[in-house]
Amino acid sequence: MASLSPDRLPFHVGIIMDGNGRWAKRRGLPVVMGHREGTKALIRAVEAAMRLGVRQLTVYSFSTENWTRPEEEVRGLLGLIDEMIDRELSRLHENGVRVEFVARRAGLDPSILEKFARVEEVTSSNEELDLFVAFNYGGRAEIVDAVRAAAAAGVDLASVDEAALAAHMYCLRMHDPDLVIRTSGEYRVSNFLLWQSAYSEFYFTDVLWPDFDETDFRQALVDYAGRSRRFGAREAEDRA
Ligand code: IPE
Ligand code: IPE
Ligand code: MG
Repeated sequence: MASLSPDRLPFHVGIIMDGNGRWAKRRGLPVVMGHREGTKALIRAVEAAMRLGVRQLTVYSFSTENWTRPEEEVRGLLGLIDEMIDRELSRLHENGVRVEFVARRAGLDPSILEKFARVEEVTSSNEELDLFVAFNYGGRAEIVDAVRAAAAAGVDLASVDEAALAAHMYCLRMHDPDLVIRTSGEYRVSNFLLWQSAYSEFYFTDVLWPDFDETDFRQALVDYAGRSRRFGAREAEDRA
């Protein structure tokens, strides 16, 4: 496979980890088994990101809309996230991963919030990889929350600008994603990083999330390396 040139690597990759349900269904397994297998793919993706030289990784783990799923599935997902933190925290920490949760925190159970705070605190001085876990996350919710936070901070909403809103997004260390990957053959954004992905490159693959591995990740980065990003401007060689 083509080699990856460091100056063509995305700094921040976002992943919409989709397809756990279909993975389970194809095997006649309960949906929660698909989510469980999905957590293994997540660990693989974190390790791959570090090996490949990605500096920030955001994974969409639970959307503001996912609460509408059957209660048993929601309970299973929350349990898996909790279990995963307990099982993987020390390894992530040893590997130098800084973890932050990108979340609408209002309304979340205090025990979840305490756990998030502990993970963020323990890993706060790590520098190998920023892992942002989007949980109870919605791009629209984040923009609404940013407007509320800006207003609460005294910003005059009649003259609000992009910089004032950007300063109140959930996670200020997060760069805009250079690349957003979505698995499972769905071609949509589903409320992921709406503000930050204004000029992101998108990569879609039919691979279901539990099957996604380092080769697939690498393929996405090779594809990205061949893209020409313009941010709305005219490229120098095209200028008349
Ligand atoms: C993605 O897998 C995980 C979450 C949304 C939490 P899905 O559960 O959406 O998988 P499909 O789309 O049903 O296959
Ligand atoms: C997006 O996937 C949310 C996560 C991956 C956490 P969904 O499966 O919830 O999105 P839709 O319903 O297919 O748009
Ligand atoms: Mg889905």
